[in-house]
Amino acid sequence: MTATQHTSTIRWEQGADDVVVLTLDDPSSSANTVNDAYVASMAETVDRLEREKESIRGVVLTSAKKTFFAGGDLRSLIQATPDTRQQVLAHVTLVKSQLRRLETLGLPVAAAINGTALGGGLEIALACHHRVVLDDPTVKLGFPEVTLGLLPGAGGIVRTVRLLGLTTALLELLLQGQRVRPDKALKLGLVHETAGDRDELIAKARAWVLANEAAQQPYDVQGYRVPGGTPSSPSLASTLPAFPANLTKQLKGAPYPAPYAILSAAVESLQVDVDTAFVVEGRYFVDLVVGQISTNMIQALWFDLNRVNGGASRPAVAATFSATKVGVLGAGMMGAGIAHAFAKVGVDVVLKDVSTEAAEKGRAHVAGSVGKQVSRGRLTQHEADAFLARITPTGDAADLAGCDVIVEAVFEDQALKRQVLSEAEAHALPDALLASNTSTLPITGLAEGVRRREDVVGMHFFSPVDKMPLVELIVGERTSDAALARAYDVVRQIGKTPIVVRDSRGFFTSRVFGTLVLEGAALLAEGLAPSSVERAALQAGFPAGPLTLLDEVTLTLPLKVSVEAAKAGSTEDHPGLAVLRALVERGRTGKAAGQGFFDWTPEKRVWPGLSELFPTTDAVPFADAQERLLFAMAVETARCVEERVLSSVEDANVGSILGIGFPPLYGGVLQYVDQYVGGVAGFVARADELADIYGERFRPPALLLERAVPAGSLRAAVSA
Ligand code: NAI
Repeated sequence: MTATQHTSTIRWEQGADDVVVLTLDDPSSSANTVNDAYVASMAETVDRLEREKESIRGVVLTSAKKTFFAGGDLRSLIQATPDTRQQVLAHVTLVKSQLRRLETLGLPVAAAINGTALGGGLEIALACHHRVVLDDPTVKLGFPEVTLGLLPGAGGIVRTVRLLGLTTALLELLLQGQRVRPDKALKLGLVHETAGDRDELIAKARAWVLANEAAQQPYDVQGYRVPGGTPSSPSLASTLPAFPANLTKQLKGAPYPAPYAILSAAVESLQVDVDTAFVVEGRYFVDLVVGQISTNMIQALWFDLNRVNGGASRPAVAATFSATKVGVLGAGMMGAGIAHAFAKVGVDVVLKDVSTEAAEKGRAHVAGSVGKQVSRGRLTQHEADAFLARITPTGDAADLAGCDVIVEAVFEDQALKRQVLSEAEAHALPDALLASNTSTLPITGLAEGVRRREDVVGMHFFSPVDKMPLVELIVGERTSDAALARAYDVVRQIGKTPIVVRDSRGFFTSRVFGTLVLEGAALLAEGLAPSSVERAALQAGFPAGPLTLLDEVTLTLPLKVSVEAAKAGSTEDHPGLAVLRALVERGRTGKAAGQGFFDWTPEKRVWPGLSELFPTTDAVPFADAQERLLFAMAVETARCVEERVLSSVEDANVGSILGIGFPPLYGGVLQYVDQYVGGVAGFVARADELADIYGERFRPPALLLERAVPAGSLRAAVSA
């Protein structure tokens, strides 16, 4: 006999064996989240379990969705401010207390994890005494909170450090937000069993419940010892003092509050009893939720990213395009990477270079990285062979027959690019998309080499292609909406994120990246020590210092760009350029030459001659140096908005983080303006101040003043 009752998001089914199966199934959404309906349903469910305990043998908790449970409700978390601290604390305390009641009911509770359980989802599973997970490599378990500036506040820290031990919980799950597959979860001890299919999953959970009447959480059993000990155990006590320093080193000094809060909550939670530990964890959680940095990160890396990937900047052309055969022109570093990206998703690639031998080199490059995946067990030899068989190297343009997409990645030379695009146009399908991976050359000019100019679009990949998730799509004067939509779809097909910008010198990313690295060089010229220039960037949250970046892209590149800009009528002369000229004159062109700002001997070190060329005076305060790097990029991006190079705040934020390393903690380059102390008005005032002291390049464009200040934010002004 089965008694069934529906609560709003949790279904209750009591079997003949008196095991209650609770199925998480939010009727308002395709995924379960910690929303108000969940909290109300969980309250009813736990009340009923407590009431009817005598007639129940145990509980199995599962979900009817594709995923187990999606986690916190980001829509409400992003709205939290210091004024709503009490409500946030009350909410998380309630969620936690419900789970605590579930694990201390006196009934065995097993989680049957039928799909991905991240964040709050994993926290619910951890409040069960036993966890069985579906053995499917697409299922992921983990705590991604840290990547959004948060921490798992519903018991995730308290339970993982007790169950796995402090070091394992921190390093394998909490500090970097790793998502682990079922096999790894089993190895870590995060789950107890795996199951082949859904029926087996429920059956195993049920069997465990029936066999373990007296189940308790290990940490509720008298005398339980946490693996690896607590902070007062001698072994942990001796290593613990190094943790904060290691964290700082790992973050390169960037001021992310979440990892430090996680570390503190984890350590402190082990020094007190479980219930007090929940209180400690809750307080750290609330500090993060109401702070600006989690708001920035949730905005950019969740809402903005979803809008960009959801097609906000894609023209409304109905049919979704899917490439079947792609011609990649140029089998160099970029061409090989692009060929790899297409072959990986099952698209046939014709890889064309000046000769078959040259094209073979590109394919060999792909073979090398595929081979690594085989040796790491990520691909079978059979899959690898099939993968490589999709790439056909050639020196003959006639082999481009049948291609529905062309991506050009030959040398950065306008005449050459025009010529290869025109040649490809002649051989590919009559309506093939003609894309160029140029990083600087205007697309409108490149299109002049072909007949179908409306089908030419910029498709700017980033290096290394396999690691970089962004592609910048550039709309030339004649590019049609249909071509742009196709380009957008192709980028989504290979799993990357497309932003859309209008044609102009340097587009958006290269132009704004240029202001960052040149500002770094200018700081050096003004007497900031090279190590301070780098530290200013790292401690502001950039992944690398501007001098290192200059050495990597080579110092001649910005010089070349400035020569081209001058030819096109620009009169700007950035003070950073003189620094590059001084080094290039001495043969110090960058990393590829083994010498630039740094001597690239095995242990990279600052070139000693630098201090003679640019004596250190430390005239620029460190805080100003940091702001100059951030403001240079933000002001230039605002100019891009003013010139309609950019027309979406989301594209700017996402593009700046994923493409050119703008610190995620600020939520991207335009969110930086909106979140600045005093809002846009505060930003404008500070930019004017920087312009007065350091140069007109910091003067904010009129757009900021005229539209954004009264609108309250750049976001509001641009979307109006
Ligand atoms: P690369 O020098 O590694 O490769 C260029 C390839 O084009 C060479 O294999 C060359 O043999 C081939 N090629 C020359 N003439 C050809 C022709 N007529 N037909 C077919 N192939 C021909 O250069 P890389 O770094 O791959 O750059 C290629 C393009 O990508 C350039 O436009 C560059 O600006 C752009 N780009 C480069 C990035 C980077 O980080 N290296 C980033 C984004 C874009």
